[in-house]
Amino acid sequence: MADFYSTLTRSPLGKTVTGSLGLPQPASLRRGRTLPERPVALGAIGAAGLAAQTLALLGVDAVDALLDTPETRTTDDEGKARPPAYEQRLGGLVLDATAARTIADLETVRALLRPALRSMGSSGRVVVLGVQPEAVDGVEATAVAQALEGIVRSVGKEMRSGGTANLVQVAGTSAQELASTLLFLLEGRSAYVSGQPVRIGTVGQVPAPEARPFEGQIVVVTGAARGIGAGIARVFARDGATVVAVDVPAAGQPLAAVANEMGGTALQLDITAPDAGRRIAAHVAGRYGDGSRIHAVVHNAGITRDKLLVNTDEERWQSVLEVNLAAQLRINDVLLDPELPGGLSDGGRIVGVASTSGIAGNRGQSNYAASKAGVIGAVHALAPLVAHRGITVNAVAPGFIETEMTGKVPFATREFARRFNSVQQGGRPVDVAEAIAWFADPASAAVTGQVLRVCGQSQIGA
Ligand SMILES: NC(=O)c1ccc[n+]([C@@H]2O[C@H](COP(=O)([O-])OP(=O)(O)OC[C@H]3O[C@@H](n4cnc5c(N)ncnc54)[C@H](O)[C@@H]3O)[C@@H](O)[C@H]2O)c1
Repeated sequence: MADFYSTLTRSPLGKTVTGSLGLPQPASLRRGRTLPERPVALGAIGAAGLAAQTLALLGVDAVDALLDTPETRTTDDEGKARPPAYEQRLGGLVLDATAARTIADLETVRALLRPALRSMGSSGRVVVLGVQPEAVDGVEATAVAQALEGIVRSVGKEMRSGGTANLVQVAGTSAQELASTLLFLLEGRSAYVSGQPVRIGTVGQVPAPEARPFEGQIVVVTGAARGIGAGIARVFARDGATVVAVDVPAAGQPLAAVANEMGGTALQLDITAPDAGRRIAAHVAGRYGDGSRIHAVVHNAGITRDKLLVNTDEERWQSVLEVNLAAQLRINDVLLDPELPGGLSDGGRIVGVASTSGIAGNRGQSNYAASKAGVIGAVHALAPLVAHRGITVNAVAPGFIETEMTGKVPFATREFARRFNSVQQGGRPVDVAEAIAWFADPASAAVTGQVLRVCGQSQIGA
């Protein structure tokens, strides 16, 4: 769905007019597997070395972050104090606050952020590393770990020109375990992710991130005929996967087109069929050999049947809960059978697609919000149950993404949803797809039980 307003504001005349009226001016976002072109600064509280080790693993040469103190400040022509400025615009700041334990340490966080924000270039990145609040002892240390979230959520709202700020909360996490997440947050793949905390634990050895991490792996994507699902299929194929594209028989033609484009296979299947899980496994075993197993299943298929609850009958209620939640739980149960040919492999990935409606609720969407909040509950419940097999379970919660589904939203509501986020524009299917692919990456083995909002830091439910 085209966003004419964004196109308008990028023309010289449109920029002048919207700028003088104080209207939003959505930036063109850096996307894809691209690190910032400009320098990334690295700052740390105390002797913390996790960020430095991880950047070294990723081959990112960071410059030393500047610190804003009364001594380092300069004065401008009018005698006003200015924080120290970097020699050139920055591509990002990685701030290692894993050693922050006291309220006084938060002053160092401020002092590192201030000069970097002053010098940040377009599509810049702030990534703060902190510890999980439950992983530290003492009231002050826990409060400080939590305070980082408040800082990052606020900085996300202050970033300009398509910049993002995110927090990674670690607990016993190694540089290898952190690498895929730090890379994702620095690259253009996370263009529509801002103001979010991500938790990473520890699992031991994990592979290093690669440009095509799914080479030789089978990935099943439901609802793949169009919209976000087609975007997910494309990103997995780009990154080396063999994609099994699933959608209803009525979408047979576009489904075949997506599968052909990807060099994958199409499976016409209504996921609410009682034997849907078995049919997916049979397709995988039949097409790719009895010994083949699925690396990742992405539960993207979803529907809306919006009405105020006062007008919602059992059919509207049940159809949404069936497609968006019940069918997915049944499919997981079947594919998790370790004996089933074509089932999910150990070390595999389950990724759900929730929604910001499932976090904040939405007028006219009690059925949809129930199903999407249910996806979040299922992630939390299932992740620990399958962790011993190296399987991770996560979900994305997209905000406003430009698709046929949101194209049907009335004009005023659509414009509101598009602009009321920190990057002042709707996301694209590829933005959701990139986050899903990061969850599914073999290098993301230590990321489980997480729900990542891909919403440009939408004000809805923030
Ligand atoms: N577009 C957004 O802004 C947005 C925001 C939040 C969440 N989401 C979620 O993202 C997912 C994809 O959304 P979209 O905007 O691309 O929607 P879409 O309607 O464009 O595509 C959904 C696809 O799922 C398929 N599908 C529906 N029921 C199915 C069934 N029973 N079996 C198999 N396939 C089925 C449809 O045929 C369609 O191809 C959905 O789960 C949706 O709830 C979308």
